[in-house]
Amino acid sequence: MSAIRVQFVCLGNICRSPLAEGVFRHLVAEAGLAAHFQIASAGTGGWHAGEAPDPRSTAVARKNGVDISAQRARALRPQDLDYFDEIRVMDRSNLRDVEARMKGTHRARVGLFLDDAQAERAEVPDPYYGGPQGFDDVYALVLDGCAGLLARLRAAHGL
Ligand code: 4NP
Repeated sequence: MSAIRVQFVCLGNICRSPLAEGVFRHLVAEAGLAAHFQIASAGTGGWHAGEAPDPRSTAVARKNGVDISAQRARALRPQDLDYFDEIRVMDRSNLRDVEARMKGTHRARVGLFLDDAQAERAEVPDPYYGGPQGFDDVYALVLDGCAGLLARLRAAHGL
């Protein structure tokens, strides 16, 4: 079976989506399913391409046992829409940006990351201009969404 390709998308790819990439990879590894997934993240904007995650994201991840320090930001590419199976976006603004790049048919199932979460929230708020508490809140939402996404994909693919 070919790997299920999952990409998380936010605006800068330094705060929210790198956390989701790291947490999802962690959950997948814990479940012994690493061989079944290809996991990535990207930003709708490319200003931070090549940069390490925001130190506040790296810190909240480390506090929760997840190492995202080696990840590097990259910009969403048009071809990602035909490569990934799942593109999960953090807020409605991201969704509009991704949908604006869709031309006709595409492979990816594109949607809000929190659609798979237990939380009654639609969006993971952008924590960039806030304080550290914002990153704890983002972490909790990211964990919720990643757990729900993994459960959905395991059920859909019989894993
Ligand atoms: P992210 O957060 O989309 O979660 O990575 C942001 C990072 C950088 C900027 C905005 C949001 N920025 O304006 O540079």
